[in-house]
Amino acid sequence: MPVISFASSKGGAGKTTSAIILATELAEGASVVLIDADPAARLVRWSGLATLPARLAVIRSGGEKMIQDEIAQARTRAAFVVIDLEGSASRLASFAIAESDLVIVPTGDEQQDADEAIETLAQVTREGRARRRPIPAVVLFARTNAAVKSKLEKHINGQLRAATRALATELHRRTAFSSLHNAGGGLRGLDPLEVSGIDKAIDNAQAFAAEVVDILEEARHAEVA
Ligand SMILES: Nc1ncnc2c1ncn2[C@@H]1O[C@H](COP(=O)(O)OP(=O)(O)OP(=O)(O)O)[C@@H](O)[C@H]1O
Ligand SMILES: [Mg+2]
Repeated sequence: MPVISFASSKGGAGKTTSAIILATELAEGASVVLIDADPAARLVRWSGLATLPARLAVIRSGGEKMIQDEIAQARTRAAFVVIDLEGSASRLASFAIAESDLVIVPTGDEQQDADEAIETLAQVTREGRARRRPIPAVVLFARTNAAVKSKLEKHINGQLRAATRALATELHRRTAFSSLHNAGGGLRGLDPLEVSGIDKAIDNAQAFAAEVVDILEEARHAEVA
């Protein structure tokens, strides 16, 4: 079933966090395989911290020689396959991107983030050309300010939105999101006495997952047409 990769040539853009948010949210209603394709294995670490949603399985990739088979197998097993990639343009990342139905490129509101996002989108386009198949890719604004954006942030955000396809939903900078790395599991498993703003974070995550599902649907129809 559909394969969604998180890619960015920039380290710390929000790939792993956003992948956890998407996978745990989708697993509320469907089976999901989450592949940790980053040698740093932060997803695997996260998966060991708490009980995972019953429909979510996390696997660690055996590397560039294995990733294609791992994806093929995960596709047969789950309704969604989510892949977290390392923050560099490796062969492993290339192979995963080539197998993807959607590549999500997380970025912040700063100029350097925007430049890196455009470079990553160009990499996805090149990958699609080599495979003679356009690979849908979208920008995801992550770690952005939930309250007010500065004038500069608004400007950069607007310019990147005009130049690329970006998700309307932003994954704001929220303690509930970053605390998943410490607590493990999904947002619904967080302790409201310890973490504030869980409800808002769940709303934000739901809107994000729903938009991703819509885009996958749209891409599937475009392929059939
Ligand atoms: N939406 C968010 N709200 C709050 N904190 C976030 C959010 N997204 C990411 N972070 C924090 O920013 C840092 C980097 O995020 P993350 O590890 O997800 O990035 P990455 O792109 O996977 O990095 P790498 O390239 O090193 O794998 C982490 O400490 C994470 O907790
Ligand atoms: Mg990461």
